[in-house]
Amino acid sequence: MTALNPFSGVTAGQIVQAARTFGTPLYLYDQALIEERCRAFLSMPHAFGLTVRYAMKANPDRSLLRLIHAQGIGIDASSLNEALRAELAGIPAREIMLTSQEVPAGESREALEGLLLRGMHYNVCSLRQLELVAPFAQKHGLDLSIRIHPGEGTGESASRNTGDKYCCFGVHLNDLPQALALAARFGLRFTQVHTHIGSGGDPAVWRRNVPRQLEIVERHFPDAVSVSFGGGMREARMPQEESEDLQSLGSYAKACMEDFQRRTGRALRMEVEPGTALVANAGYLILTIIDRKDTEGLHFLIADGGMDVNSRPALYGSRHPFYMVSQDGALLSSEFGETPAHRAILVGTCCESGDSQCLDETGHVEERPMGDAQIGDYAVVGGAGAYCAGMSLFNYNSHQQAPEVLLAADGALRLIRRQQALAQLMENEV
Ligand SMILES: Cc1ncc(COP(=O)(O)O)c(C=O)c1O
Repeated sequence: MTALNPFSGVTAGQIVQAARTFGTPLYLYDQALIEERCRAFLSMPHAFGLTVRYAMKANPDRSLLRLIHAQGIGIDASSLNEALRAELAGIPAREIMLTSQEVPAGESREALEGLLLRGMHYNVCSLRQLELVAPFAQKHGLDLSIRIHPGEGTGESASRNTGDKYCCFGVHLNDLPQALALAARFGLRFTQVHTHIGSGGDPAVWRRNVPRQLEIVERHFPDAVSVSFGGGMREARMPQEESEDLQSLGSYAKACMEDFQRRTGRALRMEVEPGTALVANAGYLILTIIDRKDTEGLHFLIADGGMDVNSRPALYGSRHPFYMVSQDGALLSSEFGETPAHRAILVGTCCESGDSQCLDETGHVEERPMGDAQIGDYAVVGGAGAYCAGMSLFNYNSHQQAPEVLLAADGALRLIRRQQALAQLMENEV
């Protein structure tokens, strides 16, 4: 059977089987590829130890959390609820680090304190956060991590840059003296220094951050035993894009840390927290073509899902690869195969002209080469494992959240999330 692309074993036949069994729109995840990506991260070269955390915001589904954790990977949680969700999935609190923009109050504060007492790591992201957690950390003798705002970042789009002056993640270098003074007053130690400078940006900027961060550790953090460089490693979804070479990145960071050790006598552990690079290419969004229209020379294919199941094109101008599969399982086109002569615009069913998987940088639709699919055929959007199911606008136009299926390593298709029922969409209305 024909595989959709060179990096995953998923075939056109399996797409049709999944669509017929579970309906569309449907997310399909390739377990074998997720496991391969986990191994690639765990075998990154390092100087004095490596911890890999999965940035679960990329895709928080319980089955994926368990699968990734079983490979030896911890969790980067970006909200209290994410941390609770990871714990409920069976991941011990000591393997979770929380990096968020808020210190929860009220009942949620109790939940936070419970997690901290069970060993969850807390990454301080502002002076205010430090003020709010310092007394508790002092009382219980907890060490802390601190996220630094380094002043330079990089991202797939401006909105995914999390290190420059247009964003406010982490303790800004200008606030560092105050943070250190406050920690000293409470007798607290920062045993880890963290940055995350953005997602899917320029690898050269990511690399520049490594020695800069080590310099910050050397100057200000005598208690640090570990540095986290965050996630954001670029992962190619489209054929012309280039993925970060993890072996080369690891070798580079290793050399920087060995140099640091020679200078200071301190052997630091390295942490990274990828989301996209672990799961993006393992995910496929399967849609059925339900209509076709032509307007002034432009061909539109209307599918049964769009911005409600993958909002990345509308949010970031992201491009995803397309695979067209006929109802009987023939691969009509693959973004990684011969470029088809036919061009079309894939749109969804939301009442927005931006509800398209084919947007240019200005937000206009643009035709892209894809096989001449007919009504009833399948449009498959690749690179849909990260920030699609977990970040979709799923109830917009009262669409129901789509189901998720895992293509298990043994070839079985396993439902891991049912389709949301219409009643669930309204159940909290009063
Ligand atoms: C703190 C933190 N770590 C890791 C990540 C993962 O980034 P990516 O999915 O680009 O690897 C993010 C994403 O926003 C993040 O905010």
